[in-house]
Amino acid sequence: MTAPASPGSAPAPPPPAPAPYRGAPARHPRHPPVTLDLRTAPGAAERTAPVFGTAPAGPRDADLTAHHAGPPLGERITVSGRVLDRAGRPVRGQLVEIWQANAAGRYAHREDRNPAPLDPHFTGAGRCLTDAAGRYAFTTVRPGAYPLPGERAWRPSHVHFSVFGTAFTQRLVTQMYFPGDPLLPHDPVLAAVPDPAARPRLVAGYDHARSCADGILAYRWDIVLDGPSATWTEEGR
Ligand SMILES: [Fe+2]
Repeated sequence: MTAPASPGSAPAPPPPAPAPYRGAPARHPRHPPVTLDLRTAPGAAERTAPVFGTAPAGPRDADLTAHHAGPPLGERITVSGRVLDRAGRPVRGQLVEIWQANAAGRYAHREDRNPAPLDPHFTGAGRCLTDAAGRYAFTTVRPGAYPLPGERAWRPSHVHFSVFGTAFTQRLVTQMYFPGDPLLPHDPVLAAVPDPAARPRLVAGYDHARSCADGILAYRWDIVLDGPSATWTEEGR
C-alpha cells in the first residue's frame, strides 16, 4: 500500500513496478497518490469512502462450505490466525475478508477464463471480524492451482486476504500460500514481492494439533500490519 504524502508536501511518485511478473505493471499505480488534507476536512476520507451494510458478519460468513445447499468439492480445511500490530499486540474488531478459487482452480467470476469446472456449491468469498485476541478463522476448501493468463506459469494454491482498518481507505490486500507447494518457487506473483525475506511470511503453517482436534486439515497464518515483520501487502488497492 502506498503511504500518502503529508498535507502540503508534493506527492511522492509511485514506486517502480516490481519485476518479473508481467502483469504487475498493469496492476500498478500509474499516478501519484492523492493527498487528502484532513486538517481542513477532518473525516473526509470516512465520509466519502464506501461503507458496509448494517448487517454484521456472522459465523456463517466465515464458513465458505456452508453457503449453498450442498457441500463443495475438494479438501475441507480451516485457515485461522491473528491480526497483529508491530509490537505483537492483537488488533481486534478488524473485518477480514477472503476470496479464492474453488478446488479445481476456478473462480466464480465472469472474467475467469480457466476451463476448469465451476462448483455450484462454492462461491469462494467469506468474511469475519477479529475477536478480542485479534483472531480470525475460516472454514473453506483448499483452492486449486490455476494457469496464469499471459504467462507461462501457474499460480500456487492461495487465498486472497483483505483487512480493513477503521475505514475503507485503510484497506490492505495480500495473499496467503500453503506450505510445501511445489509451485511456490515458480510463482511470478510471489517473486514480485520486492523483499525476498517477506515472501516466506506469506506462507501459512500447518497446524497439526488443530487438524487432529477438528478432523479438518488446519493452517495458521498471522497478519502483521506494520513494522519489520509486516506482512507484505499489494499496492494500489
Ligand atoms: Fe488468485
